[in-house]
Amino acid sequence: MAFPTLFSNWSVADGLRLENRLVMAPMTRCFADQDLAPTADSVAYYQARAGAGLIVTEATLIEAEGQGYPRTPGIYDDAQVRAWTQVTDAVHKAGGRIFCQLWHTGRMAHSHYTGTRPMAPSAVGMTGPLPRAQNLSYEEPRAMEAADIERVLTRYEKAARNAAEAGFDGVELHAANGYLVDQFLHQQTNRRTDAYGGTAANRARFALEVLDRLSAAIDPRRVAIRLSPQAYIHLEYSPGDEETFDYLLEQLNTRELAYVHVAAFDGQQRYDYLGGRPIDYVRERYRGTLIGCGGYTPETAERELEARRVDLVAMGRPFIANPDLVERIRSGEPLSAYDESMLGSLQ
Ligand SMILES: Cc1cc2nc3c(=O)[nH]c(=O)nc-3n(C[C@H](O)[C@H](O)[C@H](O)COP(=O)(O)O)c2cc1C
Repeated sequence: MAFPTLFSNWSVADGLRLENRLVMAPMTRCFADQDLAPTADSVAYYQARAGAGLIVTEATLIEAEGQGYPRTPGIYDDAQVRAWTQVTDAVHKAGGRIFCQLWHTGRMAHSHYTGTRPMAPSAVGMTGPLPRAQNLSYEEPRAMEAADIERVLTRYEKAARNAAEAGFDGVELHAANGYLVDQFLHQQTNRRTDAYGGTAANRARFALEVLDRLSAAIDPRRVAIRLSPQAYIHLEYSPGDEETFDYLLEQLNTRELAYVHVAAFDGQQRYDYLGGRPIDYVRERYRGTLIGCGGYTPETAERELEARRVDLVAMGRPFIANPDLVERIRSGEPLSAYDESMLGSLQ
């Protein structure tokens, strides 16, 4: 077989065995219905990709106030839970596994979607046009008060319970790519002077509290986290940010998580302040199951898995271009190239 390690199984937690090491990366597609529930097309889309060892869903809102893109699904109300049940049933019937990626966009939310001013760790806004929207610019966020933090923690907990009820195998906390949790982790966006800012431990507090709420709601071994310590998108690095991630990863080692997933568009890019690639920085600090992502090919995936630099490899764009990606890799068939025009429909 051409890719023996890629096609070997892996257990991320007790009783959760993945048939292969290829993960479908979370990808926002903006095709939910007007009540932000997945549709019959979403069911077919995920079912067609169930050959992945694990699917991570498109980022999914834990509360309506967290929305920053059009038609992104939620998992905070009953209709959404019922709709997601169709997705998880279809994936399970096809022999796959699926985690729900839990999302709040924080300062990237917009009143056009939410009817309310966005909130963030601090009142530090972004400028320019909103992604995937016409004629919308970022709004100035307000700083979250203690009551906001408590409400959001409760919403994460409820979302995890909802995900379990909808039949998901687990949840992945979206703490990457400059959204709410990541905004707490970086100094540019976190200027707080209370228990959630000012020191590395304080900046990591919100992420850890969310994880603890998720772990209280469902089996902790079915809770995962996605991180981007390299601050590569939607916010900027400040000197010393790596101390927050050093601390956070040390704390993650004391918890029994399903995995840590490192987000990147180009996983090979090196960052001086991390001493190289983000994936290697995390591997040196975190002892549990690790997922790498960003520009992998079957060949580079096999090589890194074999060398144990990662335990699982996530691919995103190749899964959009090739619903049958896993079968194609297995049989040596050529892969279709990804093209942005493919985002126009949910095939
Ligand atoms: C259309 C699109 C939507 C994405 N949406 C998400 C998302 O919802 N959550 C997330 O963590 N990453 C998201 N990403 C990033 C991917 O998960 C992944 O990290 C990235 O595409 C690099 O992997 P690839 O080179 O295999 O595509 C998205 C990427 C694309 C192309």
